[in-house]
Amino acid sequence: MDTTEFSALPSLGVEDLACRDGEKWATAGRGVLASWVADMDFPVPDVVREAVARRAGGDLGYPVWFDESRGGPLGEPFAERMWRRHGHAPDPTHVRLFTDVNQALLATLDAATAPGDGVLLHTPACPPFVEAVGRIGRRPLAVPLQEGAHGWEFGLEPLTEAAGRPGGSRVLFLVNPHNPTGRVLRRAELEELAAFVLERDLLVISDEVHADLVHAPHRHVPFASLGPEIAARTITLTSGSKAFNLAGVRCAVAHIGPRAVREAVDAQRGLFYGQVSVLAVEALKAAWTAGDPWLDGVRKVLAGNRDRLLARLPEGVRCHTPEATFLAWLDCRGLGLGTDPMPFFRDEAKVLLFSGPSFGPEGEGFVRLNFGTDPVILEETLDRMDGALRRRPQNS
Ligand SMILES: Cc1ncc(COP(=O)(O)O)c(C=O)c1O
Repeated sequence: MDTTEFSALPSLGVEDLACRDGEKWATAGRGVLASWVADMDFPVPDVVREAVARRAGGDLGYPVWFDESRGGPLGEPFAERMWRRHGHAPDPTHVRLFTDVNQALLATLDAATAPGDGVLLHTPACPPFVEAVGRIGRRPLAVPLQEGAHGWEFGLEPLTEAAGRPGGSRVLFLVNPHNPTGRVLRRAELEELAAFVLERDLLVISDEVHADLVHAPHRHVPFASLGPEIAARTITLTSGSKAFNLAGVRCAVAHIGPRAVREAVDAQRGLFYGQVSVLAVEALKAAWTAGDPWLDGVRKVLAGNRDRLLARLPEGVRCHTPEATFLAWLDCRGLGLGTDPMPFFRDEAKVLLFSGPSFGPEGEGFVRLNFGTDPVILEETLDRMDGALRRRPQNS
């Protein structure tokens, strides 16, 4: 196999990866290829390493931005990046820092809603979301994606049905680009959703953490960019965890459009939510301001890997083309592997995929594969999956 087209980006070999102590590889165990949790297998950008080292050699006392009520150290970098990449000009003073996207979701939801309020979210959904919403006493209202001829659809019908359930809804929690399906919402679809939230006076929490990994010809449209009325009711969440492989760094931002939510969040800051570390802030700032050449390399590898995966999906597995990110939502329902195909591939192929039912009942019969890795490792992953399926007695 010729992998020279991807060689611009250094990646780690299986031996290096097997020694890693992060969740992805440590959980997989010896001899098992880790293709589950959403970390990529590329070393972090040099600019990030250098920025962290510089800070570590300097002042690690309390940071001067402890009061971040005017946007803090990432307000300008976030706003500049949004403008440069998406032509959207958010207000840098509306940015607040959190350790991760889940915390930002919970903190803003807690500030914006009351116990019992309904939160609409599309399913299948990334594992912590439904549970997180329920844990703080809000009602998760699942909105199942529909499978159309050309892929996963975010139609208004199931949304209207869910919003009409007893108790009503207060928030739409949107994940775009979507995990696990990799769908990127078109402008027209987002405009439909915008009309829906205006009509029903909903707040929107828009998780855009995969926005930097949208594959051509698709484009990311920030939800808050759809107009001033929408911006005023939208909270945008993002971090460097996905595009820059910085999940262990623990730093995320929320751009909080609604003033009342901003004020309620600020009233709790410093004590209730804790604070991010100065090293984390340096890492994310470096990634956002100087990491794009690295990101360009990653995006090329991911696009190549995605095409490679689709070209040689194991027989009987179906997958709609991921339009963003490094995750593929594999439909294994035709294989007869039961509600959760993950144990079969773990035990028989020595490949650890993410179990579909973890994403809710719509994930039964599915697994999520992570192709954010060296093309050689992806090939090996697919070879192993193929081999395990061929060895099954019912295939002989
Ligand atoms: C859609 C989505 N939101 C949030 C997260 C978590 O991001 P973070 O680690 O920055 O909290 C993930 C991780 O996979 C994700 O896919």
